[in-house]
Amino acid sequence: MTANETVATAMPPQSAGVPVGDVVYFDARYIQKSEVTVSPDDRGFLLGDGVYEVAAAYDGRFVALDRHLGRLKKSLAEARIDVSVADPLESVFQELLERNGFAERGKAMVYLQVTRGVSPRTHAFPKVPVRPTVYAFAAPFPDMGDLASGISAITRPDLRWSRCDIKVISLIANVLANQEAKENGSFEAILVRDGVALEGTHTSFFAVKDDVVMTAPLSNLILPGITREIVLELCHRTGLSVNEQAVPAHTLPQADELFITGTTIEVAPVVVLDGRPVGDGAPGPVTTRIAELYRAAIVAGRQ
Ligand SMILES: Cc1ncc(COP(=O)(O)O)c(C=O)c1O
Repeated sequence: MTANETVATAMPPQSAGVPVGDVVYFDARYIQKSEVTVSPDDRGFLLGDGVYEVAAAYDGRFVALDRHLGRLKKSLAEARIDVSVADPLESVFQELLERNGFAERGKAMVYLQVTRGVSPRTHAFPKVPVRPTVYAFAAPFPDMGDLASGISAITRPDLRWSRCDIKVISLIANVLANQEAKENGSFEAILVRDGVALEGTHTSFFAVKDDVVMTAPLSNLILPGITREIVLELCHRTGLSVNEQAVPAHTLPQADELFITGTTIEVAPVVVLDGRPVGDGAPGPVTTRIAELYRAAIVAGRQ
């Protein structure tokens, strides 16, 4: 048996009809994922030199796609990759849903990344300008179990660089911390720098104390989460008090509630932190209310 045959037999069986998620966007073309060939000289592959974006769609309608495209453009500009590559990408998000059969029903996500392109390896930008590599795929939401009943998390030192506001593909510090969480039986690691809890490895982080919702302010130390932004707007609109101030890690055991947010995670209560129950160990009323508000905003297409 060849290596390819081994891989083929290990793949889950395809559903009948349109193969779900098999059509991807690569180098300005819609092709089968199996037809993609990434150059070994791609700077994303060699250097982690690229940025990415993830947007979610419910029944074919994206949540805040304009905000995701805005953040992508900002990431490209900060990374000094040609921002004009983003111009045709709004239609790519929509087209991938349609070509993969996700445009009608259910929850799907589109992942899109842009690398600086293909060029012999140097740290500095290629001497001769090259075309950025754009790759995008659609997939059903990852099955993460029932997050609404609460997840457990651990705190870990934040070992990332100091431009966490750019959504870069080089994620090894996030990967290592999230793996530690998984090995601990937890869902997420909350990253702590200089004594304050900033965000998760792939989520924004919130604490609730005396009915005040607290989260780290936007800075170079966190990703400006789109879900975070929508949640804060919903809090303001519904009169929930917000304090955009990073939560000192030593106060976390006294928090009434903790929760995380993210594009595919939505709003998930943290009911256990570092092995100890948060509050009474069940999703709290403020988190539950925010999760309901978020879900209602998505269903109504109001974000
Ligand atoms: C480090 C980090 N923080 C926060 C988030 C949540 O951002 P969003 O709500 O835009 O998905 C993510 C998402 O990938 C992330 O990687």
